[in-house]
Amino acid sequence: MNWNGRPMTRRGLLGRLAALGGAGAAYHGLTTLGLLAIPPAHAGIPVRPADIGAGRSVVILGAGMAGLTAGLQLARAGFDVKIVEANGHIGGRSLTVRPGDSYAEVGREKMVCRFDDGLYLNAGPGRIPHHHTAVLEYCRTLGVAMEPYIFASRANLLQSDQALGGQPVQLRRIKHDLRGRLSEMLAKVPDPAALDASITAEDHAAFKGMLEQFGALNRQGDRLVYRSSSRAGYSVPPGAGRDPGTLYPDLELKTLLDSDFWRNGLFNDMTDYWQTSLMQPVGGMDMIVKGFLAAAIPGGRTVRDLVVTESPVREVVNTETGVVVVHAKGREQADYCISTMAPSVLARVKNNFRPAYADALTRIQDTPAFKLGWQATHRFWEENDQIYGGISWTDHPITQLWYPSDSYFSKTGVLTGAYNSGANAQLFGALSHPERVALALEGGEKLHPGFSNWVHRDRALSIAWHNMPHFPGGWQNNPPELDPQAYARLTVPEGNVMLAGDFLSYWWGWKEGAIRSADLAVQAIVDRVSQ
Ligand code: ALA
Repeated sequence: MNWNGRPMTRRGLLGRLAALGGAGAAYHGLTTLGLLAIPPAHAGIPVRPADIGAGRSVVILGAGMAGLTAGLQLARAGFDVKIVEANGHIGGRSLTVRPGDSYAEVGREKMVCRFDDGLYLNAGPGRIPHHHTAVLEYCRTLGVAMEPYIFASRANLLQSDQALGGQPVQLRRIKHDLRGRLSEMLAKVPDPAALDASITAEDHAAFKGMLEQFGALNRQGDRLVYRSSSRAGYSVPPGAGRDPGTLYPDLELKTLLDSDFWRNGLFNDMTDYWQTSLMQPVGGMDMIVKGFLAAAIPGGRTVRDLVVTESPVREVVNTETGVVVVHAKGREQADYCISTMAPSVLARVKNNFRPAYADALTRIQDTPAFKLGWQATHRFWEENDQIYGGISWTDHPITQLWYPSDSYFSKTGVLTGAYNSGANAQLFGALSHPERVALALEGGEKLHPGFSNWVHRDRALSIAWHNMPHFPGGWQNNPPELDPQAYARLTVPEGNVMLAGDFLSYWWGWKEGAIRSADLAVQAIVDRVSQ
């Protein structure tokens, strides 16, 4: 682009656009240049002709997020729909446990929630990223109220047995001391072109200026040094009058490197799906499920009327004209089937799938996942530590401790006292509930000495998803990349059977993936009947 004979920089162009057409023009300029890629808004619940599915039937296996999405759309398009759910609970992993609710892992005693009224634990998913436009659009349309979910507070704690004698330390201190130390090192590089040829001698001053801001460095002559910064916080906070407070002594780079902080917790809030802002439904994750179940479908019915519960699937057979599904409570003959069961679970159901498809089902890996919830005696994290939401991280097997993002200053609250996957989830999952409680107390003590006195240990709830009936794990880990061939095979219908679920998306482990994959499965059926 060239304005008045001189090459135009992007910034120059945007300035011109803003001057000529206001902020709107500059915004369009940004998107045209590819500088601002706003995810396309999800179109919402598709509106299709209400008779497109007339005379056609679909049986959906599983009443989680994918199954409910598909059921709602197909029923509104005039299909005859039945959703067959193995568990008594509708919503799949969107399990919110409230006082009086119960659940049981396979072969274990029933876990009954004994929290005070009004409290709950999101035993499955607990947060929704701001760029998950499909879930958020469904929430908007279904009238599900949302509130902020705080992923990270700078007052959250990091704890490692390898660092600082195992003492918990505020995240703000580690984050900013590390930035400062790294910036100071980089500022010492005499010729930054040696690091990156695009940094010219002219840029050197800007490079140093940037490091000064980035790391909160101080100028000492022509040197830039890191000395304790208020960014890292105070051991004695400043007050009024002649009370300047005391900054924490800055930590050496070696101390920071020797810790596990950079492996565990420190950078998590930079992961794309955990970047601020995140959201949670007001009153529990299952408010989304309730929104689906209350959604109107033709015939004066709601989605709830489509669901049969406590009916595990025994057989899925493709026929010349459709599909036959045998489940505990009946036998369905339908034109199409959408299975939202975990692939490894569907693989164990009697079927007549061709070998390549049957094999692909077995190759999608399940990830164990574990959560434990505490009711606290009081909100000690707010009173003692000025922690309002967010997560503290530790190298203890509990891995993380979530603080409630809502109801600040109330009498009590629920902490997610352990959340982990993989080996740590296996470890917790293999223990009895009392053993899990004892181990999680140990982890809580590391972050908050005195923790054991401040939680009702007899009201703790634990859940190992890989032990739950009909769930082989918390989610399926990265299917598109871990086994691209199997994944690709499963994206293609097998006869009249198609799959939907977060495992069939690049948002595995997220509702967004479940909804978007259900969108695709429904569209595939609509396309077939429209031919
Ligand atoms: N989506 C899940 C989480 O945020 C896996 O932890």
